[in-house]
Amino acid sequence: MTAVLEVRDLHVRVEDTEILKGVSLILRQGEVHALMGPNGSGKSTMAYAVAGHPHYQVTGGDILFNGESMLELDPDERAKLGIFLAFQYPVAIPGVSFANFLRAAVSNVRGYKDRAREAAAQDGQSKVIGSELMPMREFRTELLTKMDRFNVDRSFARRYLNDGFSGGEKKRGEVLQMAMLEPKITILDESDSGLDIDALRIVSDGINKLVADGMGALLITHYQRILNYVKPDKVSVFYNGRVVLTGGPEVAHMLEEKGYSWVEEEVAEKVVA
Ligand SMILES: Nc1ncnc2c1ncn2[C@@H]1O[C@H](COP(=O)(O)OP(=O)(O)OP(=O)(O)O)[C@@H](O)[C@H]1O
Ligand SMILES: [Mg+2]
Repeated sequence: MTAVLEVRDLHVRVEDTEILKGVSLILRQGEVHALMGPNGSGKSTMAYAVAGHPHYQVTGGDILFNGESMLELDPDERAKLGIFLAFQYPVAIPGVSFANFLRAAVSNVRGYKDRAREAAAQDGQSKVIGSELMPMREFRTELLTKMDRFNVDRSFARRYLNDGFSGGEKKRGEVLQMAMLEPKITILDESDSGLDIDALRIVSDGINKLVADGMGALLITHYQRILNYVKPDKVSVFYNGRVVLTGGPEVAHMLEEKGYSWVEEEVAEKVVA
């Protein structure tokens, strides 16, 4: 079955301010949907709300995965369903190697942890004896295969997560995370920012391979440039907490050419009409 993420008339508040004022969009597995919009229009807010960040309070509307509301699920449960958020600003975790971080994340998402706990409970143990993790050998083989397939240097595995990584290295690291976690739906928040031309190609190439494998990608970006490499099925424009325009790749070209004043005019026309 093709997984579908639907954001329906979503209203989100941060502290006392309403930031999203009725966002609707649909993303299916295997599709690329680009999301553009000026600074502060609410793109990252929507991404965090979908991932289930506790600071973002949903005050109206719904977020559905395969037709079922995810609003009551915590971020961990959303990740298990197959939702992944590639952050605009990835965090560094000194002391935790990339490989150990990925092994823990993969074990969680693929249910190793839950199964180990269930088995312990059935045996009447209060604690898990043995491993909650994906077996090392199996994990290592898969990690190395995917590092090669996605052009990520093997030295990444031993480095501390994002610690001292350049901007481009962090973004490549996110492609590797996606490759390992195999999400059904991914939101990439400005994965193209700060990339040089070669890194942009590598990251785009990685996204394209994952989309060909069936991942749906919501690609938040400020520039048309990445869309030369990752072809969007749809382009939507965010403006002041709403999606105000959806079309094909031509929308991104129009924005590049005319800027957001063009969107303002389009919206004004619609309101008048
Ligand atoms: N945790 C927060 N606390 C206070 N205000 C917030 C918080 N998160 C978002 N906002 C506000 O919500 C608005 C939308 O921010 P958001 O980060 O979603 O915009 P964006 O479209 O992603 O912008 P950019 O293109 O600059 O990344 C901004 O005015 C921002 O200051
Ligand atoms: Mg943002």
